[in-house]
Amino acid sequence: MEHKFAERARFVTSSETREILKVTERPEVISFAGGLPAPELFPVEALKEVCNAVLNEEGAAALQYSTTEGYIPLREAICQRMKSAGIDSSIENVLITSGSQQAIDLTGRLFINEGDTIICESPTYLAAINVFKSYNAKFVEVAMDDDDGMVMEELEQMLRDHPDAKFIYTIPDFQNPTGRTLKLERRKRMIELANQYDVLILEDNPYGAVRFAGEELPPVKHFDTEGRVIYLSTFSKIFTPGLRLGWICADETFIDKYVAFKQTADLHTDSFAQRITAKYMELYDIEEHINKIKAVYKERCTAMLSCIEEFFPNHLSYSKPEGGLFIWVELPEGIDSAHIFTECLKNNVACVPGAPFFPNGTQKNTLRLNYSNMSKERIIEGMKRMGEVLHRELQNDSLLTV
Ligand SMILES: Cc1ncc(COP(=O)(O)O)c(C=O)c1O
Repeated sequence: MEHKFAERARFVTSSETREILKVTERPEVISFAGGLPAPELFPVEALKEVCNAVLNEEGAAALQYSTTEGYIPLREAICQRMKSAGIDSSIENVLITSGSQQAIDLTGRLFINEGDTIICESPTYLAAINVFKSYNAKFVEVAMDDDDGMVMEELEQMLRDHPDAKFIYTIPDFQNPTGRTLKLERRKRMIELANQYDVLILEDNPYGAVRFAGEELPPVKHFDTEGRVIYLSTFSKIFTPGLRLGWICADETFIDKYVAFKQTADLHTDSFAQRITAKYMELYDIEEHINKIKAVYKERCTAMLSCIEEFFPNHLSYSKPEGGLFIWVELPEGIDSAHIFTECLKNNVACVPGAPFFPNGTQKNTLRLNYSNMSKERIIEGMKRMGEVLHRELQNDSLLTV
């Protein structure tokens, strides 16, 4: 049978990383591969009470169709949280989405014509690459510094070379996949450049609220003077990813269009999930909950960094995140981390090879490690095993040159 898929189906395949994650789901595997929050921190008991309260007090409304923009008390609570992070907004600026992944997809639908250019960090979030590819975008990658994020001189050069670029896609805090953070001066500079070259910024910020070391930094949107930053965030990393709640904060002109597109996608975000989350924030202190997450991730990140020092070959470079979920490791040139992945898996430990995070090609000597999802004991055991593989394989690196 001829399947008659649309042309764009050529650009969308099940992501390689998803395939990798399937293999790593075996219980005997110590997995640093996914990007999953620590499940033992989900507030299950509190949510039993909260769900009951929602069903008792507003059950019918929670199960009914609702407005596309989202549940007003939830949008109000989001505005309040964003205010303390440095973003002034009102509920008219906020649209609740089915995870921030939907916000990324709606952004693609709303802004990208075939062949449009997107400027992004190199590397960047794989599922955003896949979304933008599905709309036939071209990618211009901007290098990052280990400690300071996207290099502004290079960004300016790219803006000069690509005056029609649609937007800069940035993950300024504890970036996925690198764990790197854009420093303060560069946030201001990014806005200046965006104003000068009249380009939009898509600020994807799922991790900013999960800072466990260093000083708080205002989001890029905080410095936005012309309403050109579209800010995305989510409850996935501070509450639960399973409820699939994210949001867009942007000028109303943008929000109106997003609403129209969201209507065509799913009418509205899950009403029950929205009311559960709003009720949780009414009855409990979500900051207290986030503080618990930060304490656990700090311990796990510290353990993983110490293990890199102790067990990995000592000439590797790696990021030292102050928040978020990931550490990025660069192996010597010529080492293919896909091979390292295969060897690690034989020892029941998993990471993600870095190549798919580069939209235009590959930097095969990189890998991403997640520390949020495994206990400290499992981290130490898994890192020991990875260290053994790396020592062995780096000694044999002539075999790995590709
Ligand atoms: C950078 C980035 N953006 C967006 C998302 C999507 O998050 P969600 O759809 O769960 O809100 C993720 C998930 O890991 C992410 O890392």
